[in-house]
Amino acid sequence: MRAVDLFAGWGGFTLGASQAGADVVWAANHWPLAVEAHAANHPRATHVCQDLRQADWSKLPAHDLLLASPACQGHSSASQPSRRRYHDELRATAWAVVDCADVCEPAALVVENVPSFRRWRLYPLWRQALELIGYELTELVLRASHHGVPQRRDRLFLVGLRNGRRVEVAEGGAEPGFGPCIEPAVGHTRWTSVASASTAVKARIRKGRANHGYRFLTQHVTGHPGVGLDEPIRTITTKDQWAYVEGDRYRPLTVRETARAMGFPDSYRWPREASRCDQIKGLGNAVCPPVARDIVRAVMEAA
Ligand SMILES: C[S@@+](CC[C@H](N)C(=O)[O-])C[C@H]1O[C@@H](n2cnc3c(N)ncnc32)[C@H](O)[C@@H]1O
Repeated sequence: MRAVDLFAGWGGFTLGASQAGADVVWAANHWPLAVEAHAANHPRATHVCQDLRQADWSKLPAHDLLLASPACQGHSSASQPSRRRYHDELRATAWAVVDCADVCEPAALVVENVPSFRRWRLYPLWRQALELIGYELTELVLRASHHGVPQRRDRLFLVGLRNGRRVEVAEGGAEPGFGPCIEPAVGHTRWTSVASASTAVKARIRKGRANHGYRFLTQHVTGHPGVGLDEPIRTITTKDQWAYVEGDRYRPLTVRETARAMGFPDSYRWPREASRCDQIKGLGNAVCPPVARDIVRAVMEAA
């Protein structure tokens, strides 16, 4: 199956689709660094760096599967009313998916977003537009930790098939713990002693210690209860918020640990000039490849 990936970012969706056997032939994003990262890992695809609200869809290569992760910030629970105009612009990226499907009419599409995307006031209209174009839609909320990813991350996947069929994706089984993602003692990590931390951080670490013992994860969120290493980490966002605590010291997670927690293999490459901030942003925005693999596999069987 030939696929295109809109808002392709760091390439999590493409990687999972490729693992399922799809051939991703075209990928686009407006962030040059993301295009570079994607191209380094998926050189077979044609790459385009552009604002997809302005795209000429008639120029896309022939494809059967449309993958798309329109910007999610406008729909996430972190949205603030004061940022309304900015978020309206982000939400508008979802209409690019409708435009593309209308022009190209691929046999199948999969749109990924945060579950609260369904609370967007135009969501019923947006969904109906895809139905009018001819897609039978299935709404799935999948939890990454049920697909072998050591992260409890819920995401909405809207699957559309033109043949009228619906798609099912099995979920369940034991959730993997984050522990094996920890890199062994590495010199470059920035350890801080708990004794020199702020009062708020000390209080959080005390709480995590009471709940989980000597080694655990903590998130820079007031009152966070910590996460044991035998459990999946909770949602990784675009913000650099997670730290690993070991006894009387703590450090931020490394980029590699964060990538592992998203289900990316260690062989995945990042642009050399990407800052830590960019790398965490690209990862926090990504689709977990194993989830993408499972859903695209189900779509390929049903299409
Ligand atoms: C949720 S992320 C996509 C993640 C990607 N599917 C992955 O698995 O790595 C959304 C991406 O859309 C990009 N984006 C946002 N607005 C855009 C626009 N108007 N045109 C093109 N890309 C845009 C952002 O730079 C971001 O990389």
